Amino acid sequence: MSDPALPAARPTVDSRRLTAAPQPAHQRAPGGGADTATVFDIANVDVFYGSFHAVKNVNFTVAKNEITALIGPSGCGKSTLLRSLNRMNDLVPGARVAGTVAYRGKNIYDQGVDAVEVRRRIGMVFQKANPFPKSIFDNVAYGPRIHGVKRSELADIVEDSLKKAALWDEVKDKLKQSALALSGGQQQRLCIARTIALAPEVVLMDEPCSALDPIATARIEELMVDLAKQFTIVIVTHNMQQAARVSDKTAFFSTEVNELSDTRTGVLVEFDDTQRIFTTPSDERTENYVTGRFG
Ligand SMILES: Nc1ncnc2c1ncn2[C@@H]1O[C@H](COP(=O)(O)OP(=O)(O)OP(=O)(O)O)[C@@H](O)[C@H]1O
Ligand SMILES: [Mg+2]
Repeated sequence: MSDPALPAARPTVDSRRLTAAPQPAHQRAPGGGADTATVFDIANVDVFYGSFHAVKNVNFTVAKNEITALIGPSGCGKSTLLRSLNRMNDLVPGARVAGTVAYRGKNIYDQGVDAVEVRRRIGMVFQKANPFPKSIFDNVAYGPRIHGVKRSELADIVEDSLKKAALWDEVKDKLKQSALALSGGQQQRLCIARTIALAPEVVLMDEPCSALDPIATARIEELMVDLAKQFTIVIVTHNMQQAARVSDKTAFFSTEVNELSDTRTGVLVEFDDTQRIFTTPSDERTENYVTGRFG
Protein backbone atom coordinates (compact mmCIF):
# COMPACT_ATOMS: atom_id res chain seq x y z
CA MET A 1 0.00 0.00 0.00
CA SER A 2 2.78 2.43 0.78
CA ASP A 3 4.06 4.33 -2.24
CA PRO A 4 7.69 3.63 -3.12
CA ALA A 5 7.73 6.96 -4.97
CA LEU A 6 7.39 8.82 -1.68
CA PRO A 7 10.18 8.85 0.90
CA ALA A 8 9.51 6.85 4.05
CA ALA A 9 8.56 9.37 6.69
CA ARG A 10 6.45 7.57 9.27
CA PRO A 11 5.20 4.05 9.79
CA THR A 12 2.18 3.12 7.69
CA VAL A 13 -1.14 3.04 9.43
CA ASP A 14 -1.32 -0.72 9.77
CA SER A 15 2.19 -1.09 11.11
CA ARG A 16 1.96 1.52 13.82
CA ARG A 17 1.55 0.57 17.46
CA LEU A 18 -0.85 2.96 19.07
CA THR A 19 0.05 2.06 22.59
CA ALA A 20 3.76 2.61 22.10
CA ALA A 21 5.30 5.68 23.67
CA PRO A 22 6.39 8.32 21.15
CA GLN A 23 9.85 7.58 19.92
CA PRO A 24 12.57 10.10 20.69
CA ALA A 25 13.60 11.97 17.54
CA HIS A 26 17.02 10.30 17.37
CA GLN A 27 15.37 6.86 17.17
CA ARG A 28 13.11 7.71 14.25
CA ALA A 29 13.85 7.63 10.54
CA PRO A 30 16.43 4.93 10.11
CA GLY A 31 19.06 6.21 7.74
CA GLY A 32 18.80 9.64 9.27
CA GLY A 33 17.77 11.50 6.14
CA ALA A 34 13.98 11.36 6.15
CA ASP A 35 13.05 13.02 9.40
CA THR A 36 14.39 16.46 8.68
CA ALA A 37 12.84 19.70 9.86
CA THR A 38 11.49 20.72 6.46
CA VAL A 39 8.23 19.01 5.61
CA PHE A 40 7.23 21.07 2.58
CA ASP A 41 9.39 23.07 0.24
CA ILE A 42 6.98 24.95 -1.99
CA ALA A 43 8.77 26.44 -4.99
CA ASN A 44 7.42 28.54 -7.86
CA VAL A 45 3.91 27.20 -7.44
CA ASP A 46 1.21 28.49 -9.77
CA VAL A 47 -2.37 27.22 -9.75
CA PHE A 48 -4.80 27.61 -12.65
CA TYR A 49 -8.50 26.87 -13.05
CA GLY A 50 -8.72 26.43 -16.81
CA SER A 51 -7.18 29.61 -18.21
CA PHE A 52 -7.73 31.54 -14.96
CA HIS A 53 -4.47 32.14 -13.09
CA ALA A 54 -5.62 31.81 -9.48
CA VAL A 55 -2.30 31.81 -7.62
CA LYS A 56 1.10 32.96 -8.85
CA ASN A 57 4.68 32.05 -7.97
CA VAL A 58 4.36 30.94 -4.36
CA ASN A 59 7.52 30.05 -2.43
CA PHE A 60 7.79 29.06 1.22
CA THR A 61 8.73 26.16 3.43
CA VAL A 62 6.79 24.38 6.17
CA ALA A 63 8.71 23.13 9.17
CA LYS A 64 7.99 19.94 11.07
CA ASN A 65 5.80 20.26 14.19
CA GLU A 66 5.05 23.87 13.46
CA ILE A 67 1.72 25.55 12.77
CA THR A 68 1.81 27.59 9.59
CA ALA A 69 -1.08 29.99 9.02
CA LEU A 70 -2.23 31.17 5.59
CA ILE A 71 -4.01 34.52 5.82
CA GLY A 72 -5.29 37.13 3.39
CA PRO A 73 -8.47 38.63 1.93
CA SER A 74 -11.21 36.51 0.40
CA GLY A 75 -10.33 35.19 -3.04
CA CYS A 76 -6.55 35.52 -2.68
CA GLY A 77 -6.09 31.77 -3.14
CA LYS A 78 -5.54 30.45 0.39
CA SER A 79 -7.80 27.42 -0.09
CA THR A 80 -6.43 26.86 -3.58
CA LEU A 81 -2.86 26.81 -2.28
CA LEU A 82 -3.80 24.63 0.70
CA ARG A 83 -5.45 22.08 -1.60
CA SER A 84 -2.31 22.00 -3.74
CA LEU A 85 -0.37 20.65 -0.72
CA ASN A 86 -2.12 17.26 -0.79
CA ARG A 87 -3.27 17.11 -4.42
CA MET A 88 -6.85 17.84 -3.47
CA ASN A 89 -6.99 20.13 -6.53
CA ASP A 90 -6.71 16.96 -8.64
CA LEU A 91 -10.39 16.46 -7.80
CA VAL A 92 -11.38 19.93 -9.10
CA PRO A 93 -12.17 19.86 -12.84
CA GLY A 94 -9.85 22.17 -14.81
CA ALA A 95 -7.46 22.78 -11.91
CA ARG A 96 -3.74 22.58 -12.69
CA VAL A 97 -0.72 23.06 -10.44
CA ALA A 98 2.68 24.11 -11.82
CA GLY A 99 5.97 24.36 -9.91
CA THR A 100 7.14 22.07 -7.14
CA VAL A 101 5.47 20.99 -3.92
CA ALA A 102 8.29 18.97 -2.39
CA TYR A 103 7.07 16.90 0.54
CA ARG A 104 10.12 15.55 2.36
CA GLY A 105 12.21 16.22 -0.70
CA LYS A 106 9.90 14.57 -3.24
CA ASN A 107 7.62 16.53 -5.59
CA ILE A 108 4.11 15.20 -4.93
CA TYR A 109 3.23 16.05 -8.55
CA ASP A 110 5.94 13.80 -10.00
CA GLN A 111 4.86 10.94 -12.20
CA GLY A 112 4.35 7.76 -10.25
CA VAL A 113 3.35 9.43 -6.99
CA ASP A 114 0.07 7.99 -5.72
CA ALA A 115 -2.34 10.83 -4.84
CA VAL A 116 -4.27 8.58 -2.42
CA GLU A 117 -1.11 7.89 -0.42
CA VAL A 118 -0.27 11.62 -0.53
CA ARG A 119 -3.66 12.40 1.01
CA ARG A 120 -3.20 9.76 3.70
CA ARG A 121 0.07 11.29 4.78
CA ILE A 122 -1.24 14.82 4.36
CA GLY A 123 -4.76 14.86 5.77
CA MET A 124 -7.34 17.62 5.50
CA VAL A 125 -10.03 19.12 7.73
CA PHE A 126 -12.59 21.36 6.07
CA GLN A 127 -14.39 24.56 6.99
CA LYS A 128 -17.69 22.88 7.63
CA ALA A 129 -17.57 19.72 9.71
CA ASN A 130 -18.60 16.92 7.37
CA PRO A 131 -19.09 13.73 9.38
CA PHE A 132 -20.48 10.76 7.50
CA PRO A 133 -24.05 9.73 8.41
CA LYS A 134 -22.65 6.84 10.41
CA SER A 135 -21.83 6.17 14.04
CA ILE A 136 -19.07 8.05 15.84
CA PHE A 137 -17.00 4.85 15.85
CA ASP A 138 -17.51 4.20 12.15
CA ASN A 139 -16.55 7.77 11.21
CA VAL A 140 -13.15 7.38 12.84
CA ALA A 141 -12.68 3.76 11.74
CA TYR A 142 -13.63 4.54 8.13
CA GLY A 143 -10.19 5.46 6.81
CA PRO A 144 -8.21 2.73 8.60
CA ARG A 145 -10.83 0.18 7.42
CA ILE A 146 -10.47 1.07 3.77
CA HIS A 147 -6.70 1.02 4.18
CA GLY A 148 -6.98 -2.59 5.33
CA VAL A 149 -6.36 -2.25 9.05
CA LYS A 150 -7.29 -5.42 10.93
CA ARG A 151 -10.61 -5.43 12.77
CA SER A 152 -8.88 -6.21 16.06
CA GLU A 153 -6.87 -2.98 15.84
CA LEU A 154 -9.76 -0.66 15.02
CA ALA A 155 -11.03 -0.08 18.55
CA ASP A 156 -7.57 1.02 19.69
CA ILE A 157 -7.18 3.35 16.74
CA VAL A 158 -10.62 4.90 17.32
CA GLU A 159 -9.93 5.46 21.03
CA ASP A 160 -6.47 6.86 20.42
CA SER A 161 -7.66 9.22 17.68
CA LEU A 162 -10.62 10.48 19.72
CA LYS A 163 -8.29 11.10 22.66
CA LYS A 164 -5.88 13.04 20.49
CA ALA A 165 -8.78 15.08 19.15
CA ALA A 166 -9.88 15.84 22.73
CA LEU A 167 -13.29 14.25 22.16
CA TRP A 168 -12.98 10.86 23.88
CA ASP A 169 -14.36 11.89 27.27
CA GLU A 170 -17.48 13.33 25.66
CA VAL A 171 -18.28 10.37 23.41
CA LYS A 172 -16.79 7.24 24.97
CA ASP A 173 -20.19 6.04 26.16
CA LYS A 174 -21.99 6.63 22.88
CA LEU A 175 -19.64 5.46 20.16
CA LYS A 176 -22.49 3.64 18.40
CA GLN A 177 -24.63 6.79 18.17
CA SER A 178 -24.88 8.85 15.02
CA ALA A 179 -22.13 11.42 14.51
CA LEU A 180 -24.79 13.78 13.21
CA ALA A 181 -26.21 14.14 16.72
CA LEU A 182 -23.01 15.81 17.96
CA SER A 183 -22.68 19.59 18.32
CA GLY A 184 -20.85 21.56 15.61
CA GLY A 185 -17.68 21.83 17.68
CA GLN A 186 -17.80 18.13 18.53
CA GLN A 187 -18.38 17.27 14.87
CA GLN A 188 -15.31 19.28 13.91
CA ARG A 189 -13.22 17.46 16.53
CA LEU A 190 -14.64 14.19 15.19
CA CYS A 191 -13.45 15.19 11.70
CA ILE A 192 -10.02 15.89 13.17
CA ALA A 193 -10.09 12.44 14.82
CA ARG A 194 -11.11 10.89 11.50
CA THR A 195 -8.17 12.59 9.81
CA ILE A 196 -5.57 11.63 12.41
CA ALA A 197 -6.86 8.03 12.52
CA LEU A 198 -4.89 7.53 9.31
CA ALA A 199 -1.66 8.53 11.09
CA PRO A 200 -0.86 11.40 8.74
CA GLU A 201 2.24 13.50 9.18
CA VAL A 202 0.57 16.75 8.16
CA VAL A 203 -2.92 18.06 8.87
CA LEU A 204 -4.24 20.79 6.58
CA MET A 205 -7.14 22.82 8.00
CA ASP A 206 -9.24 25.23 5.96
CA GLU A 207 -10.96 27.68 8.33
CA PRO A 208 -11.80 24.87 10.76
CA CYS A 209 -13.42 27.22 13.28
CA SER A 210 -15.40 29.52 11.03
CA ALA A 211 -18.71 27.82 11.84
CA LEU A 212 -18.05 27.55 15.58
CA ASP A 213 -18.83 29.67 18.62
CA PRO A 214 -15.99 31.23 20.66
CA ILE A 215 -15.89 28.40 23.20
CA ALA A 216 -15.71 25.66 20.57
CA THR A 217 -13.15 27.77 18.69
CA ALA A 218 -10.95 28.12 21.78
CA ARG A 219 -11.20 24.35 22.24
CA ILE A 220 -10.01 23.68 18.68
CA GLU A 221 -7.21 26.24 19.04
CA GLU A 222 -5.95 24.49 22.18
CA LEU A 223 -6.21 21.21 20.34
CA MET A 224 -4.18 22.52 17.40
CA VAL A 225 -1.34 23.59 19.66
CA ASP A 226 -1.42 20.16 21.29
CA LEU A 227 -1.58 18.31 17.96
CA ALA A 228 1.43 20.24 16.66
CA LYS A 229 3.58 18.26 19.09
CA GLN A 230 2.89 15.22 16.92
CA PHE A 231 1.75 16.60 13.58
CA THR A 232 2.67 19.44 11.28
CA ILE A 233 -0.26 21.78 10.73
CA VAL A 234 -1.11 24.24 7.97
CA ILE A 235 -4.21 26.29 8.68
CA VAL A 236 -6.18 28.83 6.66
CA THR A 237 -7.89 31.39 8.85
CA HIS A 238 -9.68 34.71 8.53
CA ASN A 239 -9.29 35.24 12.24
CA MET A 240 -6.21 37.39 12.83
CA GLN A 241 -6.20 36.71 16.56
CA GLN A 242 -6.33 33.01 15.85
CA ALA A 243 -3.36 33.18 13.49
CA ALA A 244 -1.44 35.26 16.02
CA ARG A 245 -2.35 32.96 18.92
CA VAL A 246 -1.67 29.55 17.45
CA SER A 247 0.76 29.77 14.56
CA ASP A 248 4.55 29.78 14.42
CA LYS A 249 4.82 31.02 10.82
CA THR A 250 2.42 33.08 8.76
CA ALA A 251 2.07 33.45 5.01
CA PHE A 252 0.16 36.59 3.96
CA PHE A 253 -1.48 36.43 0.53
CA SER A 254 -3.07 39.22 -1.45
CA THR A 255 -4.28 39.70 -5.02
CA GLU A 256 -2.84 41.50 -8.00
CA VAL A 257 -5.10 42.78 -10.75
CA ASN A 258 -4.22 41.68 -14.28
CA GLU A 259 -5.05 44.75 -16.36
CA LEU A 260 -5.47 42.85 -19.62
CA SER A 261 -7.85 40.15 -18.44
CA ASP A 262 -9.35 42.19 -15.59
CA THR A 263 -8.91 39.20 -13.26
CA ARG A 264 -7.23 38.90 -9.88
CA THR A 265 -4.37 36.53 -9.17
CA GLY A 266 -3.31 35.57 -5.66
CA VAL A 267 0.28 36.29 -4.66
CA LEU A 268 2.28 35.53 -1.54
CA VAL A 269 3.21 38.94 -0.18
CA GLU A 270 5.21 37.88 2.84
CA PHE A 271 6.15 34.77 4.78
CA ASP A 272 7.82 35.02 8.16
CA ASP A 273 7.64 34.23 11.86
CA THR A 274 4.09 34.99 13.01
CA GLN A 275 5.31 37.42 15.61
CA ARG A 276 7.15 39.40 12.99
CA ILE A 277 4.21 39.42 10.56
CA PHE A 278 1.99 40.87 13.29
CA THR A 279 4.47 43.36 14.73
CA THR A 280 7.06 44.43 12.18
CA PRO A 281 6.09 43.11 8.74
CA SER A 282 8.37 44.17 5.93
CA ASP A 283 5.62 44.86 3.35
CA GLU A 284 3.16 47.71 3.67
CA ARG A 285 0.34 45.52 2.31
CA THR A 286 0.86 43.07 5.19
CA GLU A 287 0.81 45.86 7.73
CA ASN A 288 -2.39 47.29 6.29
CA TYR A 289 -4.07 43.89 6.43
CA VAL A 290 -3.03 42.83 9.92
CA THR A 291 -3.95 46.21 11.35
CA GLY A 292 -7.37 46.04 9.69
CA ARG A 293 -6.89 48.87 7.20
CA PHE A 294 -7.52 46.59 4.25
CA GLY A 295 -9.47 43.43 3.39
N1 LIG B 1 -13.20 25.25 -8.36
C1 LIG B 1 -12.89 26.46 -8.85
N2 LIG B 1 -13.06 26.74 -10.15
C2 LIG B 1 -12.74 27.96 -10.65
N3 LIG B 1 -12.24 28.98 -9.92
C3 LIG B 1 -12.05 28.76 -8.62
C4 LIG B 1 -12.36 27.50 -8.00
N4 LIG B 1 -12.07 27.57 -6.69
C5 LIG B 1 -11.60 28.83 -6.49
N5 LIG B 1 -11.58 29.53 -7.64
C6 LIG B 1 -11.13 30.91 -7.81
O1 LIG B 1 -9.76 31.00 -7.41
C7 LIG B 1 -9.54 32.19 -6.65
C8 LIG B 1 -9.02 31.82 -5.29
O2 LIG B 1 -10.07 31.14 -4.60
P1 LIG B 1 -9.85 30.50 -3.16
O3 LIG B 1 -11.09 29.79 -2.82
O4 LIG B 1 -8.59 29.74 -3.16
O5 LIG B 1 -9.66 31.82 -2.28
P2 LIG B 1 -9.59 31.98 -0.69
O6 LIG B 1 -8.43 32.85 -0.41
O7 LIG B 1 -9.64 30.65 -0.05
O8 LIG B 1 -10.94 32.79 -0.38
P3 LIG B 1 -11.91 32.75 0.92
O9 LIG B 1 -11.18 33.48 1.98
O10 LIG B 1 -13.12 33.47 0.46
O11 LIG B 1 -12.17 31.31 1.25
C9 LIG B 1 -10.86 32.95 -6.63
O12 LIG B 1 -10.86 33.90 -7.66
C10 LIG B 1 -11.89 31.85 -6.88
O13 LIG B 1 -13.03 32.38 -7.53
MG1 LIG C 1 -10.99 29.67 1.21
